[in-house]
Amino acid sequence: MTPFRVRPFALLRWLGVLLFACVALKIGAASGNKQQNLSPLRQPSDPALYVGADTCKTCHQPEAESYNRGPHWRTETGKHKGPQWQGCEACHGPGKAHVDSGGDATKIIRFTALSAREASERCAACHEKSESHANFMRSPHLANGVGCTTCHSIHAATARHDLLVSAQPALCYGCHRDVESDFAKPQHHRVNEGLMSCTDCHNPHGAFLPHNLRTSSWQGLVCSKCHIDTAGPFIFEHAPVKEQGCTACHNPHGSANPHLLTRPQVNQICLECHSTILPTTVAVPMPTFHNQATQFSQCVLCHPAIHGSNTHPEFFKR
Ligand code: HEC
Ligand code: HEC
Ligand code: HEC
Ligand code: HEC
Ligand code: HEC
Ligand code: HEC
Ligand code: HEC
Ligand code: HEC
Ligand code: HEC
Ligand code: HEC
Repeated sequence: MTPFRVRPFALLRWLGVLLFACVALKIGAASGNKQQNLSPLRQPSDPALYVGADTCKTCHQPEAESYNRGPHWRTETGKHKGPQWQGCEACHGPGKAHVDSGGDATKIIRFTALSAREASERCAACHEKSESHANFMRSPHLANGVGCTTCHSIHAATARHDLLVSAQPALCYGCHRDVESDFAKPQHHRVNEGLMSCTDCHNPHGAFLPHNLRTSSWQGLVCSKCHIDTAGPFIFEHAPVKEQGCTACHNPHGSANPHLLTRPQVNQICLECHSTILPTTVAVPMPTFHNQATQFSQCVLCHPAIHGSNTHPEFFKR
């Protein structure tokens, strides 16, 4: 086999061409952006670059209608702010060049041409200040390419509220199939029936707790917002309620077991932490008379105040 022969000068020549091409492209891109002021992450403030929503409406009838129906016309009432915060151009960027060219689509910001992060940055410029959106930029949704305009549509929303592309839970099931099967189980929170929604427990815009969970007044899981009696404070707390949270014993979405429990038999749950064998336990062992072959398998018959008690350290009464 003949060895591959390196020709150093030819190689250098090609490298030179490549370098020149890169620099030329870079300069071209930079000056293009500068002329058009169309970087999705910038909002130039020079009023001469803007035309105002009324001008856009003359050529874009359908979008003008959805805009007038939605909430964003209200941005035009903030006249003390610059034009970059108002009307169509608050989202689509300065439009004078686009209008002057008779509608050159490359001279206006098109959301379909932006990445999820770029599109979301434009929305967040106004919405990030609200408390419920403060975590979006580091949320698992954006990290996986799900941006504002995946769930919301400014001009083609089908849900009645919040400009959603479709209403809950269908919107969420579209991507979270496994969760859909949880809610089809015999015991479930009545999300499909419309009595509550995914966003009662989750913030789709991100949160401090894992799994985008909303917090309760004690900064634990959201559950105690509705199940006030389970969260205490109690004189005699059952440690796992606060330490591991409700999901130590319950499946929050749905379950085949009564009371959304994680196991079919109550004692199977308790035995994960309490056993009759001393050294292997993570919690106080059960008394030795708790024979699991007998009536002692129904733990909550005798320990009914399982979430905590104000009267009894062994949770006999509430
Ligand atoms: C003189 C008429 C005219 C005016 C005024 C006008 N546009 Fe356009 N616009 C057009 C035409 C024509 C197109 C190209 C449509 C195509 O290529 O399918 C276009 C395309 C667009 C697109 C891209 C659409 C796509 O399919 O990707 C956007 C976004 C847009 N315009 C927004 C605006 C905004 C915002 C304003 C106001 C700043 C505005 N337009 C003002 C005529 C106009
Ligand atoms: C709150 C941000 C926002 C405002 C305000 C806004 N748009 Fe849009 N526009 C979008 C987004 C996002 C899309 C991509 C499609 C969608 O989400 O509905 C879009 C899409 C479009 C398109 C292209 C339609 C297509 O086929 O994708 C046109 C044209 C357009 N907008 C014009 C306008 C005009 C005209 C106005 C003002 C009357 C306006 N927009 C106001 C965010 C906005
Ligand atoms: C220039 C600032 C601004 C930008 C940019 C902006 N919004 Fe808004 N948005 C507003 C204002 C103002 C309201 C009305 C708030 C109110 O009335 O409380 C609003 C309301 C909303 C609502 C609530 C709708 C409802 O029915 O209550 C949604 C959803 C929304 N915006 C999504 C978006 C998305 C998605 C984007 C990016 C494509 C975006 N916004 C970009 C200012 C902005
Ligand atoms: C995974 C889907 C999803 C994504 C991504 C998403 N949203 Fe939402 N958004 C929703 C749902 C669902 C609601 C309904 C609110 C509720 O029921 O709590 C909502 C409500 C809103 C509201 C009105 C109520 C409120 O909380 O202020 C605004 C404004 C809003 N979203 C803006 C945005 C913006 C801006 C982004 C991107 C930074 C974004 N959303 C990303 C699903 C989403
Ligand atoms: C009653 C409160 C509640 C409701 C309603 C709820 N969730 Fe959850 N969800 C939780 C909790 C709590 C967890 C964490 C589970 C854990 O720690 O094991 C979770 C976990 C998740 C997860 C991550 C783990 C997994 O099971 O895949 C996803 C995704 C999810 N929920 C989506 C949804 C969707 C979509 C809906 C609506 C159809 C919904 N949730 C309704 C409380 C809820
Ligand atoms: C376009 C697809 C898409 C839509 C629509 C969507 N999600 Fe997600 N969601 C994802 C992806 C991708 C992730 C990150 C990967 C994962 O954890 O499954 C995620 C993550 C989550 C998580 C965190 C899961 C964890 O284990 O940390 C929750 C909770 C969640 N989504 C709830 C919702 C809810 C509630 C809705 C409806 C309002 C919704 N999602 C709509 C795609 C989507
Ligand atoms: C928005 C209010 C709300 C939130 C938040 C909520 N729940 Fe519920 N939960 C209910 C309602 C209402 C029912 C009972 C009625 C029904 O839907 O069948 C219920 C039923 C239950 C049941 C079954 C009760 C029984 O008697 O069998 C358990 C267990 C439960 N929830 C645990 C939780 C946990 C754990 C969380 C947090 C992850 C939570 N819930 C969050 C409203 C809520
Ligand atoms: C150590 C396990 C465990 C933990 C942790 C736990 N539960 Fe329970 N929970 C149970 C058992 C067992 C039952 C069944 C009681 C019965 O059959 O009488 C139950 C029943 C329930 C019920 C229905 C009956 C009732 O008492 O209202 C609700 C609602 C409930 N739990 C909510 C919660 C919430 C909310 C949390 C978190 C704040 C939580 N649970 C934490 C074990 C637990
Ligand atoms: C996730 C672990 C865990 C699970 C599951 C659990 N427990 Fe506990 N339990 C504890 C811890 C921790 C304590 C606090 C005492 C200690 O430090 O050992 C405790 C305390 C108790 C006490 C009071 C003991 C005393 O004198 O302080 C009783 C009674 C009890 N649990 C019964 C139950 C029953 C019945 C179940 C099943 C429904 C159950 N536990 C499930 C961890 C758990
Ligand atoms: C027939 C009633 C009854 C049933 C059923 C029952 N217990 Fe008890 N349990 C008691 C009594 C009574 C005590 C108090 C013993 C004492 O104070 O010496 C007790 C005490 C405990 C203690 C505290 C031990 C200590 O040292 O403080 C734990 C933990 C416990 N039970 C767990 C369970 C678990 C787990 C189950 C189900 C597998 C269960 N119990 C079922 C009656 C019952």
